[in-house]
Amino acid sequence: MCRPEFFTVSYRINPWMHPQDPTDTQNAIAQWTTLYDTFVGLGHEVQLIDPIPGLPDMVYTANGGFIIDGVAYGAKFTYEQRQPEGPAFMEWFGEHGFRVVDPRQINEGEGDILLVGTRILAGTGFRSSVESHAELAETFGREVVTLGLVDPRFYHLDTAISVLDPIDDDENANIAYVPAAFDEPSRKKLEQLYPDAIIVSEEDAGILGLNSISDGYNVVIAKRAVGFEKQLRERGYNPIGVDLSELLLGGGGVKCCTLELRR
Ligand code: ARG
Repeated sequence: MCRPEFFTVSYRINPWMHPQDPTDTQNAIAQWTTLYDTFVGLGHEVQLIDPIPGLPDMVYTANGGFIIDGVAYGAKFTYEQRQPEGPAFMEWFGEHGFRVVDPRQINEGEGDILLVGTRILAGTGFRSSVESHAELAETFGREVVTLGLVDPRFYHLDTAISVLDPIDDDENANIAYVPAAFDEPSRKKLEQLYPDAIIVSEEDAGILGLNSISDGYNVVIAKRAVGFEKQLRERGYNPIGVDLSELLLGGGGVKCCTLELRR
């Protein structure tokens, strides 16, 4: 995670961002701290990367890379405003014992790349390129399923899909998603791969309710996603609501603020 010390909205690279509206950095830090404390309370080990002045989106660490088995595939950002974050994250990975793969293709890390069971789901349409999906498959030697995003509100895959079961078992690793985020072939593909998926309303997904972190039981979600909260409870999960409304002004939620370090 990255403490949002320099958080603000000074440019617009997604429809959530309104640079003319005020932001409250202290509120962002306070809400982020609640998320941090929630993770620690659940027994997660949280490591921090130092925030860099002038990089207000660095709090969204999910975009910093994608890691499996100690191998960190670096990010190569779409927009110039975030491009310096790529090398900063790769430097951190290298210093913390990960093998770093310098990407050739545009990709925004775990924002668009999700590990579900043993397979990788990868988004494209707004940020990460399809070429990066091939690079991913080559890097990790795993099946990569390309999913086309079509709704600008859901510009990253992690705004449209929530990974519920971080286990190595394709039969039982389930997801939640909002179908409206995807093109028709991708919707079909998701129906076929995850027949038991939780289908989340556009209302809940529209406040980034799907942008969540699960340990297979506790699911940390946006507090306002009450419908999704109910659905999770019905399926035997324990949803934990956190208010990240300030960070939503930059277009990010729980998952965006979290990069999973799979050793
Ligand atoms: N303002 C950031 C951007 O548009 C938000 C990133 C949200 N991160 C995520 N993993 N969805 O790039």
